[in-house]
Amino acid sequence: MTSPVHDAQVVHLRRGGTSVVARLAPDNLPCILHWGPDLGDHPPDQFQELIRALQMPGPHEPTYPHSWASVIPRQTAGWLGRPGLVGHRKGREWALTFTTVKHTGASGADAEVLRSVATDQTAGVETTTEIELLASGLVRLRAAVQNLHSEPYAVTLLEPVLPVPAEAGELLDMAGRPGHERTPQRRPFDEGQWVREAWGGRPGHDSATLLCAGRPGFGFRTGRVWGVHLAWSGNQTLSAEHSYTGWKLLRGGELIGPHEIVLGQGEAYASPWLYASWGEGLDELAGRFHDHLRARDTHPQRDRPVLVNTWEAVYFDQSLPKLIDLAERAADIGAERFVLDDGWFKGRRDDTTSLGDWVVDPGVYPDGLTPLVRAVQGLGMEFGLWFEPEMVNLDSELAREHPDWIMGTHAGPGLTSRNQHILDLANPEVWNHVYSRISALIDEHDIAYIKWDHNRPLTGAGHGPDHTPGVHKQTLAVYRMMQALRESHPGLEIESCCGGGGRLDLGIMEHASRAWLSDCIDAHERHRMARWTGLLLPPEMMGTHIGSGTDHTTGRRHTLPFRAGTAIWGHLGIEWDLTTITDSERAELRSWIAFYKRFRNLLHSGRIVHADNVNNALDLEGVIAPDGGEAVFRLSALGLPTRLPAGRIPLPGLEANTLYQVTAVSPAKAAFTVTPPAWFDGGVSLPGRILDELGVMPPLLQPDDLVFLHAQAVR
Ligand code: DGJ
Repeated sequence: MTSPVHDAQVVHLRRGGTSVVARLAPDNLPCILHWGPDLGDHPPDQFQELIRALQMPGPHEPTYPHSWASVIPRQTAGWLGRPGLVGHRKGREWALTFTTVKHTGASGADAEVLRSVATDQTAGVETTTEIELLASGLVRLRAAVQNLHSEPYAVTLLEPVLPVPAEAGELLDMAGRPGHERTPQRRPFDEGQWVREAWGGRPGHDSATLLCAGRPGFGFRTGRVWGVHLAWSGNQTLSAEHSYTGWKLLRGGELIGPHEIVLGQGEAYASPWLYASWGEGLDELAGRFHDHLRARDTHPQRDRPVLVNTWEAVYFDQSLPKLIDLAERAADIGAERFVLDDGWFKGRRDDTTSLGDWVVDPGVYPDGLTPLVRAVQGLGMEFGLWFEPEMVNLDSELAREHPDWIMGTHAGPGLTSRNQHILDLANPEVWNHVYSRISALIDEHDIAYIKWDHNRPLTGAGHGPDHTPGVHKQTLAVYRMMQALRESHPGLEIESCCGGGGRLDLGIMEHASRAWLSDCIDAHERHRMARWTGLLLPPEMMGTHIGSGTDHTTGRRHTLPFRAGTAIWGHLGIEWDLTTITDSERAELRSWIAFYKRFRNLLHSGRIVHADNVNNALDLEGVIAPDGGEAVFRLSALGLPTRLPAGRIPLPGLEANTLYQVTAVSPAKAAFTVTPPAWFDGGVSLPGRILDELGVMPPLLQPDDLVFLHAQAVR
């Protein structure tokens, strides 16, 4: 690539099994012609012909037909759909025309990078795009706008796009609500737009999570599919646009409030990274996200400790003797971390009061938290503590002393939600206050882990005395606080809770080691949630707990093997009053924890696979060791099969020519209600290819039951 280019050129980037092909013009930002399978090693000049090959027929006017849609589509380049950039200087200079565009490529250890800087000299605005092809084969893309003039420039929309080919005829994303997160939904990718927006200051429980477009009927193992995700924890949109010109675009960006982004001279606004993955089926698409996350320096390297969380065990009814009893029983069954949830601070006996007053309740803990922390640490466990740093109850000392620290509008702090309001963390005084309280408690008690909650959406969240739209600044302030706490307390881990599942985007996950998936621990529901959250996060980043026999949110009853076998497919925890369980339940729990510890290294490093179309009632997922030498599969019945026997189940993802010994494995004490097939007796030895193509006969499982199968390479 030369820089600047005089005629349109085509560049080809290759990494991690992915090719990105882009058209670079002297008057526009890049137009992506392909992101998907590696196209192989061809001399660069062979790609030049693509410009002629892909030029649409007809009058060569930019608006009809439209041959090239750049990563920032603009009307002034002939794009008649949703623009990629909207900005203005008090209503002027809103239609940018690029006078110079400079494209630069770089090849680094971590990525192939294509940076393009487009300048509108008259308007005094510079627009930059960065397209990175990462080692995992993930693509990420962002744009920035810089104001070169002295008069302020307001940005109202900056949403980069990635095109997908015509064959992508079906869309998939997630829907949900609190307690019922991540329900997949599909629809045809018809003309028009499919738009998912989050205005509540966080991705939300209904977050699209990923917006995928693929060959109709794409599944986990087959059907080419492309998907995008926005690494941002504030207001946001993901959308798919099918234009009459044939272009199909996936896009994402921040939803910017009125005058929320106003740039002074020299200032710039950068959009969040739009991450993009593709695959022959969703497993490959998800695998690129997992590889990327696992390759980060900040990815947890230690074994994910089994934790016990106090929430569903005691709720607000905390007392030192009870908690020490719980801690002793936790350590006895093999727990490694003890997390004290909501209810430990002054006056917090229910959710109406005291948020923001991060002082230990002297009524409940007359000698502070030290006796509990000492007991926990003395039992060999780490201590974790719950906070909700962004929130405040009006009934708190903090709110009484500093009413001006609460976000709101000219009409006041606005709606309450779970009795709480939002602290204006973009105000440095507020940020320093909250940071110092949390930091002091971490120091005092050697806290290893923070469960960081966020139990309400941001509505009317104005910042400062003028109550200007504040979500953008608030989101950055939260990231800053998480980062500062981790930097000043090396090894500190943060869980992104958000009322369960409301904030698990890759922006927050840069700072958090795991996400709490939902407030619903019902094992039946959790199967769906883990499966679809798994498009983005690997199992070690998903908090999955064993709850009590009757689920607290749905009232459903499940056996311990089903609850435990569900929860071990993630970062295992227990949220159950262990002081009330029977001896046999204790023994069973102990063996499940041992089972998790035996397989957690495999589960937290291996490739995740799912079988397609197993049966209407059965789910099968597996994890394959990176070297293909071992795998564990989990077969679950989530309903009654319409046929009996349920038919063969494939075991996908194994090395085709490797012989595997497959056996049913279960914790010693598990009381499955399973009628086994003949091969359970002694297992079977078959090559990976045959296990995938022909499969094995499953056991007869009752609804809401499961078994684990272990595949070990024997040659
Ligand atoms: C919502 C969380 O999801 C729960 O696990 C618990 O921490 C409560 N908040 C505490 O208020």
